[in-house]
Amino acid sequence: MSEKVNELRQRSEEALRGGGEKRVAAQHEKGKLTARERLDLLLDEGSFQEYGRLRRGNITAFGYEPAYTDGVITGFGTIDGRPVAAFSQDFTISGGSLGEAHAQKMVALMEKALKIGVPVVGLNDSGGARIQEGVVSLGGYADIFLQNTLASGVIPQLSAIMGPCAGGAVYSPAITDFIVMVEGTSYMFVTGPNVVKTVTHEEVTSEELGGARTHTSKSGVAHFRARNDAECLSLLRRLMGYLSLNNREDPPRVECRDDPARADESLDTLVPENPNKPYDIRDVITRVVDDGEYLEVHPDFAGNISVGFARLDGRTVGIVANNPMVLAGVLDIDSSDKGARFVRFCDCFNIPIVTFEDVPGFLPGTSQEYGGIIRHGAKLLYAYCEATVPKLTVICRKAYGGAYDVMSSKHIRGDLNIAWPTAEIAVMGAKGAVEIIFRKEIAAASDKQAEFDRLVKDYEHNFANPYEAAARGYVDAIIEPRQTRAKLIAGLRLLETKRDRNPPRKHGNIPL
Ligand code: HXC
Repeated sequence: MSEKVNELRQRSEEALRGGGEKRVAAQHEKGKLTARERLDLLLDEGSFQEYGRLRRGNITAFGYEPAYTDGVITGFGTIDGRPVAAFSQDFTISGGSLGEAHAQKMVALMEKALKIGVPVVGLNDSGGARIQEGVVSLGGYADIFLQNTLASGVIPQLSAIMGPCAGGAVYSPAITDFIVMVEGTSYMFVTGPNVVKTVTHEEVTSEELGGARTHTSKSGVAHFRARNDAECLSLLRRLMGYLSLNNREDPPRVECRDDPARADESLDTLVPENPNKPYDIRDVITRVVDDGEYLEVHPDFAGNISVGFARLDGRTVGIVANNPMVLAGVLDIDSSDKGARFVRFCDCFNIPIVTFEDVPGFLPGTSQEYGGIIRHGAKLLYAYCEATVPKLTVICRKAYGGAYDVMSSKHIRGDLNIAWPTAEIAVMGAKGAVEIIFRKEIAAASDKQAEFDRLVKDYEHNFANPYEAAARGYVDAIIEPRQTRAKLIAGLRLLETKRDRNPPRKHGNIPL
């Protein structure tokens, strides 16, 4: 072997060793994989092409010794044969902290991914701004935030938080489309427990403040929680399987072995007779979609709306469904935000939206009004209105009030709106309506309860059904629930060539 090739090998091997045996062992002891082990699990075997392995920083302040890769491994590979860009921060090198070269590598990767139109998957495990590099690291973060923003809506961006992610560093994953957090080993917060104690006198652990459970159930910052690194990486692969590579391409189509015409009789009786009785809308979704496979996004946050990915006839669809199991399926602040962001993601990346509707309206109360339910509910409305992808809606039961309009109604460019015979499409529920419009009649009646019950029955007969909406053309068809899968697939096939556009403008002004 020539001396020159030998030198290259030595340098390359040094880079592959990362921060050295001791630090790798410490990483493993924490239950974490190394940056390279993670990439091995994320990407198809042998597909990774690394860029910048021998890149090093040039700052040596405070005795800092620049290391190969500068603490982040960047490159391109494939997931199930489809290309992706990936970076993986190496905690064994200066705690994965972000210096100038580290930031430049991430920015270069994102710029290239944007040019060639492939998603970026980021594996985050970093102590934040590299202290020895001072303001240069802050500039590096800003460069990354800008790239994240420019890439938003052009290529999907997925983030895994697999270690610390604190301070301003949180804002890069926050701009990306999906965040997966690993239980027990990852956390995200703007300021850590010590600062919190000084400022607000609250005593809180890192886990309580910004662990995976907190962000997937309380704050909604993260979309998925994984039990360990391997589960996190396999989830990212599964998620990628539903997504298009960029905003000019359709999502991948897979072979469908589930009969497109399959009728599920159990759907006919799934909605309870009693309108106040809950049922789980996810039982409807899994009976309708291909092979019952539903990847729920945000499963532990704002359960009154369920959103996620599934396939119909082998095509990716985004599902948005009110879930009567939680808060009767009402729309509130969190469920509006959750639904709106998901609808916008689907619209960016050419994913048709299928809405299953059972919604009694918006949640009343001071906490909702003071929290700005008007502003948040408007986001969901805005997102549905502006979406130009195929929009298919199934009204299973309640479609009351403003929520009827919001949930992908015909009026806001719903393409196929179908209702089950159990649908109740009205301004409000029977009891509330009767109390308002027949107050005087009820007060004057000798048997007030009997009069009230009679009027409620009357209202239900006249209004709590889908036939008035069908007569007006607000729904395209009323179908037997068992036909739902076949009807949606027929609709999707027809809408495959749908083209619609919004007026030209710089961008709209969604009520944030
Ligand atoms: C340089 C860092 C570093 C950093 C960790 N290291 N963070 N080096 N800059 N920010 C180094 C450590 O010196 C150590 O080096 C190695 O990484 C591992 O760190 P440990 O502390 O031994 O690990 P651990 O006990 O697991 O604790 C991890 C940690 C802690 C919680 C991340 O290191 C920590 O608190 N670091 C500082 C975090 C921080 O304040 N960052 C700046 C935030 S402000 P050796 O050589 O011993 O292995 C910020 C602003 C961004 O990020 C603004 C964007 C707008």
